[in-house]
Amino acid sequence: MSEATTNAAKSMDDIMALCKRRGFIFQASEIYGGVNGFWDYGPLGAQLKKNLKDAWWQDTVLTPPDGPDGKPVSIVGLDSCIIQNPKVWEASGHVGGFNDPMVDDKETKQRFRADHLWGFFILPASDGSADEFRLVFERAADDPSFAPLFTCVAGASGEARDFLTSNRKKLFKQLKLKVTSEPSESDEHAVMTLEKDGQRYIGGLAPVSSEALSQSHASIPSPFTHSAGQLTPPRAFNLMFKTFLGATATEDDIAYLRPETAQGIFINYKNVLDTTRVKMPFGIAQLGKAFRNEVTPRNFTFRSREFEQMEIEFFCHPDTTREWYAFWRDTRMAWWRSLGLTGDNLLLREHDADELAHYAKTGAGTSDIEYRFPFTAPGFGELEGVADRSNFDLTQHAEHARAKLEYFDQERNERYLPHVIEPSAGADRGVLALLCEAFTPDPERASKVYMRFHPRIAPIKAAVFPLVNKDGMPEIGEKLHKELRARFGMVDFDPKQSIGKRYARMDEAGCPYCFTIDSDTLSDQTVTVRHRDTLEQDRVALDKVGNWLAEKLTS
Ligand code: GAP
Repeated sequence: MSEATTNAAKSMDDIMALCKRRGFIFQASEIYGGVNGFWDYGPLGAQLKKNLKDAWWQDTVLTPPDGPDGKPVSIVGLDSCIIQNPKVWEASGHVGGFNDPMVDDKETKQRFRADHLWGFFILPASDGSADEFRLVFERAADDPSFAPLFTCVAGASGEARDFLTSNRKKLFKQLKLKVTSEPSESDEHAVMTLEKDGQRYIGGLAPVSSEALSQSHASIPSPFTHSAGQLTPPRAFNLMFKTFLGATATEDDIAYLRPETAQGIFINYKNVLDTTRVKMPFGIAQLGKAFRNEVTPRNFTFRSREFEQMEIEFFCHPDTTREWYAFWRDTRMAWWRSLGLTGDNLLLREHDADELAHYAKTGAGTSDIEYRFPFTAPGFGELEGVADRSNFDLTQHAEHARAKLEYFDQERNERYLPHVIEPSAGADRGVLALLCEAFTPDPERASKVYMRFHPRIAPIKAAVFPLVNKDGMPEIGEKLHKELRARFGMVDFDPKQSIGKRYARMDEAGCPYCFTIDSDTLSDQTVTVRHRDTLEQDRVALDKVGNWLAEKLTS
């Protein structure tokens, strides 16, 4: 099976069930019925997320690779507040511009993001190829008058495709359409040929643009009832959470929960320059919570209202943005690969000029590192963005705060406002990608599934099992457990249940190595080591287990 098929075939319901069962992720406020868009991390999830964030801090702040000039890259860390002076968000453009276009269904009162709407378009067939039709569907999405829309689905491309696949028979029957060729599994647009009264048609999925929704909302079918005439035109909805500072709670006391960690870096850029010995080019890194009142939180933790970001703002001379952009894009892509996202589920996608965010100039570029989640498959969802932010943010803060933010470059004998390359990753989306990638169904195992985490990020690094709870085995096990825990962190110790059940539990937790103390241990001072991925078992000397494990975890 190809990687693509593998992830498309994984069931998100099964992954979510395992996350709950094993204590990776729980619905927030679950005992009160939950709260939409918020998730809590259980013991295994909290450790997995910490391992991811630690790896990021280690590899980007403490030991980044050498830069494009062959010199060590200079980066320092920061931990700024979630609540800042509200003027920060006016300057950054978030008060005026951080809006999602949102559409309401007037009948069902449901709401969705305008840019999440997929339409199924049907065209009379010519002799065109499937590739030509794919282009036609993309164009259809931007042109309100282009093609008759049959039905609409709100969500990721994979969800639209799944909906169409499972409801096709019922939906097509109404229009007396017969499917004469099925779409291929990897075709995001789900292009298929259809027939009615001897006439051939081509049908396929494409996003419905906000422009099309603005102009033709009355004739576009609702994604909830599939009837036209119910949708409002898209309306702007600010995504920042508001709160009040102090007891009076008037309009003057409004403050915002940060929607990104980046601005905390920009407003401290001068402090860092003045208090450390950093020189251009250099980066400031920060990880922490961000909050967005997402219109439609969905797909497990993928789009949450509270999430964590891992962001670097890398300041450089304007003439060097291209090389730093390319450096960070490639470095970040390689980093995700190093954590086990090795197959073709990971994709680097350069943005088209018309996709650029308000802060991104057309200079060096913007790209997304995307992952093929089971709910986006065969399409991809964003994991990290790498953007050339030019000097947009520093210019804005210099103006709004009337601050002098220019840098005097002694080497160049030049004063300038640096440009910024920003690699901005989501820790929660990272964890979700690692969970989806690791999830490996295996009908041969007692657990029927195991989590194939890269050992570096696996929450439990090893487990120690006395085969039976007597004959001195628990004591040997306890001693080994203590030693391994002191060196490697989370190590499981379990003297109860059948050995098969204990292995199954560790398979679901994604523990790469289990050490069993058995009767041979008593005579020859060796233990059995079981390898999670291959199920192989061999023996290691009891006093060498620590070093053996250290080598395995770092190789
Ligand atoms: N400072 C730039 C910035 O915030 P972004 O693309 O809006 O850019 C960066 O966010 C990353 O944060 C995304 O690639 C994604 O991983 C994560 N992210 C954004 N919104 C999110 C949400 N609602 N839930 C979970 N993660 C989110």
